[in-house]
Formats: sequence, C-alpha cells, structure tokens
Amino acid sequence: MTRILLFTGKGGVGKTTVAAATAARAAARGLRVLVTSTDPAHSLSDAFDVPLGDGPTQVAAHLEAQQIDAQARLERHWKEVRDYLVELLAWGGVGELQAEELVLLPGLDELFALIDLHRQVEGGAYDLVVVDCAPTAETLRLLALPDALRWYVDRILAPGRRVARVIRPVTSRVGGIPVPQDEVFGAVERIHGELAAVHSLLQDAGRASVRLVVNPERMVIAEALRTATSLALFGYAIDAVVVNRVLPDTVTDPYLARWQERHAEHLATIRASFEPTPVLPAPLLDDEIVGEAGLLRLGQHVYGDGDETAVLHDAERLSVERTADGYVLRLPLPFAAKDDLDLYRRGDELHVKVGGVKRTVPLPAALRRGDVAGARLVDGALQVRFAVPAPAGAS
Ligand SMILES: Nc1ncnc2c1ncn2[C@@H]1O[C@H](COP(=O)(O)OP(=O)(O)OP(=O)(O)O)[C@@H](O)[C@H]1O
Ligand SMILES: [Mg+2]
Repeated sequence: MTRILLFTGKGGVGKTTVAAATAARAAARGLRVLVTSTDPAHSLSDAFDVPLGDGPTQVAAHLEAQQIDAQARLERHWKEVRDYLVELLAWGGVGELQAEELVLLPGLDELFALIDLHRQVEGGAYDLVVVDCAPTAETLRLLALPDALRWYVDRILAPGRRVARVIRPVTSRVGGIPVPQDEVFGAVERIHGELAAVHSLLQDAGRASVRLVVNPERMVIAEALRTATSLALFGYAIDAVVVNRVLPDTVTDPYLARWQERHAEHLATIRASFEPTPVLPAPLLDDEIVGEAGLLRLGQHVYGDGDETAVLHDAERLSVERTADGYVLRLPLPFAAKDDLDLYRRGDELHVKVGGVKRTVPLPAALRRGDVAGARLVDGALQVRFAVPAPAGAS
C-alpha cells in the first residue's frame, strides 16, 4: 500500500526542501519513491538540482520527481465541460471572455494534479508518494473544491441532463438555452468519480498524512493554526509539524542572540499548541540546500533515527457516538474560536463554516432522522447533539 505525505505551509517556509528531503531519505533506505509538485511555481527541480518535467524523472536511486503541468491537464480533462459552461454563461449575457474566466474555478488546475496523483498511487509502482503542495491558501482552496464541483454538477449540469435527454434528438437548444452534449456529462461523471476516489484516499488517515511546515515566527505560526483548523474541517490528518530554520545553539554571534531566544520561545509555543502532534525542529543550515547530500542532511535533522514514512500521530477524526437520547457528532476543529464558527443544517447535510472556510458534511444515516438539539465547541472539537425519537413501542 502506497503511503502519501503532503507538505504544506506558508510561502517560503521550506515546504519544497522538507518534502524533497523526506523523499530522498526514504529512497536512500531503498523505498520506491515519487516526489511530485502540485505548486504551479515549481522549485523541486532547484532542490534536486536536476531538470524536471511533467512526467516522472529519475533523480537518484529509487527516487523519481515530477513537476505537474496542471494547466495542460486541466485543458485535457475539463475542456468539454468548460466549453459548455462558457456557452451557457454567454447565453445568459455574460461576455465570452468574462465567461472563460468565470468557469475557471480557482485551484481547478491543482485538482487535476491530484487526480493524477491518485492514478500513480493506484498504479502500485511506488511505496511512498510525497506531494509538495502550493502555499496554504491555494491548498485549502483545493481541498474545498469537491464541494464546489458538486455544486456545479447538482445545480447546473444535472438539470441540464434531464432536459437534454428529451430535447437533443430534435435540437441542441431549448428556448435558446444551450443543452450540454453527452461528452460534457461523461467528463463530469469521470472527474467526479476520480475526485471522490482521490478525496477518500487523502482522507484515509492510515495512508495519507499532511505535514505542516512552519518557521519559528509569529505570523507563520498564526497562519499554521488557522491551517490546522481548516485541514481538520475537511477531514485531513496532520501527523507532524516541522519547524524549519531554527537558529542552532552553535551560533554564538551576539547579533543573533535575540533571534535565538525568540526561536526558542516560538518553538515552545508551537509544541504547546499542537501537543500531542509531534513537532520536529530542523536547524537553519549553514547554506542553501541543493542536491541529494544536502537534502539527506536536512532529513537527518528532521527525523533523526525515526521512520519518516510512519504515521507519526493518529489525529482525531469525525466520529459519531450513541447517547441516551440520540447521538453526538464530534468534528475536531483545533484552534477554532466560537465566534468564527457558523453552523446550520439543511436536509441531510450539516454546513460548517470556520473563518471563511466552509464544508458540507453529509450526515450519517443514523443522524438523519434526528433533530439538532444543540452544539458546542469543547476541547478543540465541535460537538453537535442529535435528538432521535425512540422507536414506537419502546419504553
Ligand atoms: N533548514 C534550512 N536551512 C537552510 N536553508 C534552507 C532551509 N530550509 C529551506 N532552505 C532554503 O530556503 C529556500 C526556500 O525553501 P523552499 O523553496 O523549500 O520553500 P517553500 O516553502 O517551498 O517556498 P514556496 O512557498 O515558494 O514554494 C531554498 O533556497 C532552500 O534551500
Ligand atoms: Mg515550494
């Protein structure tokens, strides 16, 4: 079974370097490794000091790397759907150029990078796939996409299909409304299926872990806490936090003494905040990190003698518990504040919004009959109580 490790964090913290170091280390132990970058601003090639392309290129023994050309994949997979949406919007009075832009959901290109990832994982050629993600904001948008895509499918394409079945034999337009062709539905269904597969793959905490890379700096930490909340909201498990570029004790220049103190303080804050998630510090090395030797050196600092592919922490996930009068749904939301939280139920879905990030949680069957009886944030988890009427005849 292929293990998947995703590295994300604020811009410039060292995501690419730590991802490459992790991959290099696993490959040096003999595992078959692929490291792949979904960030359109690729720098994996700089980290390995080897030119890379859209397909896997061998960079060391057992180690392949690739920088996905997401735009090209987008064109390939999404073209039919996009063309239809553009036509539809143009019919609605939106200019064609503007329509072109509207139908490009932000982050959609990365989505196709993930679909590719799914194929590579299922292909069975690798023991470990390491993903160097784009900076946090883009990564989070990406994780919210399954919802957005479902919205498109349900509201725009699915009704169109019903109309199309009846009308298309006669005409490709209904009262002027363009009717989508079968290719459009085919493409949407294919993408939808692959998306569901990659989604469940990434949410499988036994296989996929997210490692958050941070620096010992106030603003970076603040963003990392928000990221942790959002990742938990979407059901992705963080198994470690890598604190990169900590000034080492061996530096004795008085000019940097204050920085050293600050780093120690921030490191302590990170440990206290993320506890019990493991925090792995890595020093600022004495030079830029380029090539396999440097990467292995960094990897040694991050993981010591530990196994970099292990699930380093079993993060809590969404759970449902039976109670005397119904159920409690528990959704871990570390660092979330009550004021940032918005919650409502619509039909069989629970809509949860935290700090501008929204997820629609389909309710497990047992809860659908119940009524929401209350909700609260306790110990970094949202608890929603469902009162379920006792079955008739029960006392
Ligand atoms: N621990 C370290 N010691 C010394 N240099 C480092 C360390 N970590 C990263 N660097 C250097 O910092 C630079 C930026 O690192 P990197 O490209 O990995 O960051 P990133 O988070 O991937 O950036 P981006 O958000 O642009 O993708 C690189 O030149 C890298 O060699
Ligand atoms: Mg990078």
